[in-house]
Amino acid sequence: MADTEELAKGYTALNGTQYDAGKFLLKRLNITTGNNILDVGCGPGDITAHIASIVGPSGSVVGIDPSKERIALANEIATPNLSFYVGRAEDLSRFESNSIDVVFVNSTFHWVEDQATAMKEFARVLKSGGRVGISGGSGDFEAAHEKIKADVLSREPYRKYPITSGPKFLKRSEIEGLLDAAGLEKREIVVNTIVKEAKDGAAMIEWLDTSSSGKTYGGIPLDLRPQAREEMKVEWARITTEEGIKMDMELLVTVATK
Ligand SMILES: C[S@@+](CC[C@H](N)C(=O)[O-])C[C@H]1O[C@@H](n2cnc3c(N)ncnc32)[C@H](O)[C@@H]1O
Repeated sequence: MADTEELAKGYTALNGTQYDAGKFLLKRLNITTGNNILDVGCGPGDITAHIASIVGPSGSVVGIDPSKERIALANEIATPNLSFYVGRAEDLSRFESNSIDVVFVNSTFHWVEDQATAMKEFARVLKSGGRVGISGGSGDFEAAHEKIKADVLSREPYRKYPITSGPKFLKRSEIEGLLDAAGLEKREIVVNTIVKEAKDGAAMIEWLDTSSSGKTYGGIPLDLRPQAREEMKVEWARITTEEGIKMDMELLVTVATK
């Protein structure tokens, strides 16, 4: 399912978890005044705008995202040193080789279909000494939302529809392999342990839907989605307490230097 204006606006209202994860990644990247930054998978651009305030008018920040709906929202906050384009991680041909100080990839890499090509593109556009920062769900840890999705989609009638899109959460060893193949040998990978809170299953599902641009239902047809969503709500209800849901998550945070 393609993104929609409603999901894009919903994400802008609900992206506090990703914003905090982005701040954690930013701290490790030492971005300074005058830097040229590329935000890959920038969504509606609010973290991108925060980065623009760090680099100041002598620097520049460009955000790209394949969702024209999210780029339309981002363009509302564009400034002379903050611009946005529709584009994908796998094709950064808009950007010259050796031109970027920091490639910033927050809560996005697991949605990138060709992760190997994207990593090589990050390495190509970075200046020597430039850094790429990637933060996203860890393939070494299975969070409750993945267990619930796998459980519900393994049932009839959903199981006959093959999963046609991500997320593909990478294990540490898989990220290491992609970095090796892209020639990014200097790197540090740490785990950022977070707790995602939601008042109930419906709120959690809304967060998952807006964060994934509607890709939380594997390959099942649109008309079966409401039914699958109800079954997911039943599973969330089992782990909901009076305080709501507190879901443990592990993010892998990678900083590699060219
Ligand atoms: C959860 S949002 C994260 C947005 C933003 N980085 C943030 O931290 O709030 C994931 C974003 O990845 C984008 N995305 C999906 N596939 C992509 C690709 N191949 N290249 C770049 N971005 C992609 C989606 O359109 C979406 O905006």
